[in-house]
Amino acid sequence: MNDASNLSIFEHAEVIEKKFAARIAVLSAAPEGRAVEDLRIAYLGRKGELSSLMEGLKKLSKDERPRAGKVVNELRGKIESELETLKIKVRDWQIEQKLAAKALDVSLPVDSMGQGGSLHPVSLIRSVLIKEFRHLGFSVCDGPEVDLDFYNFSALNFREDHPARDMQDTFFIQGQKGMILRTHTSNIQIHTMLKEKPPLRVVALGRTFRCDSDMTHTPMFHQVEGFIVDNNISMAHMKGVIDHFLRAIFGANLATRLRPSYFPFVEPGAEVDLECIVCHGKGCRTCKHSGWLEVGGLGMIHPNVFEAVDYDSERFTGFAFGFGIDRLAMLKYGLPDLRQLFEGDQEFLGQFPVYV
Ligand code: PHE
Repeated sequence: MNDASNLSIFEHAEVIEKKFAARIAVLSAAPEGRAVEDLRIAYLGRKGELSSLMEGLKKLSKDERPRAGKVVNELRGKIESELETLKIKVRDWQIEQKLAAKALDVSLPVDSMGQGGSLHPVSLIRSVLIKEFRHLGFSVCDGPEVDLDFYNFSALNFREDHPARDMQDTFFIQGQKGMILRTHTSNIQIHTMLKEKPPLRVVALGRTFRCDSDMTHTPMFHQVEGFIVDNNISMAHMKGVIDHFLRAIFGANLATRLRPSYFPFVEPGAEVDLECIVCHGKGCRTCKHSGWLEVGGLGMIHPNVFEAVDYDSERFTGFAFGFGIDRLAMLKYGLPDLRQLFEGDQEFLGQFPVYV
């Protein structure tokens, strides 16, 4: 630029344009963000080539100024647009570099044992249950998750003022009188019995809802409900069925015991305990040192339930049971916190197999 003062402004503009074109040519071959910015400062910056041209403009006479001004402006426009094009080139080039660095070799052989899918623990237990109950000749049914109080409570012999209703932590549907989220799958007993005549052999697996949440309770959980209605059905049949499916899940001949308990829709009623799968009855943390794990409820279907669905309670007897599927999954897979089942954490869920 030292000799710039000896050049006319037009010659000076031409020199700048040529120099700039040479720099652009070099940078276009190897675009680099920092160099483009340096170039911009060198030509358009406050002390850049263009500003020295502008200085030159001031020295011109009034007549010469418009023509020279036009040339300088055109040069500025050209430089700006070429820098812009170069910037885009740099960006594209950077993207290309990134893609190239992460290139996948699609010709590599696939690791067939690698990351496949997996089934949710609840689905795994469900599929064992469905398979085993089909073998025993049960039909698989379902019923509504949003249901009338009648099916979930009244027809199951929960009287209007019965304290057992409070124990169920019911979710009510706002503005819909008598509508609730089912608190157990026992509503399916009523729906099925109203539709079908005995003999019945039914299993139902589904979502249930109670307003409760801690290490061993979630507001939504899963139950498996089974019931048989026929002539001469006894508690012994029920014990046989229960032992069969628990053995299918836990794979071992674990003892079960029935503890008398109360459910309005069965008489007699009992809770089922399974021999602790961890310590086999010796006592450990899992079973709180009792040697037993509570897994479900059962009993002989109450005559009042048969009346509600218009079955002859003199002619028929039946049993029903209800187990928590999530609880079975927790025990089977040694899960400390039930809530893990419903958090959708891929790392946790990915540990489970694709089949049982
Ligand atoms: N429905 C009961 C509950 O959720 C379980 C149960 C089912 C008990 C069938 C007896 C017979 O607690």
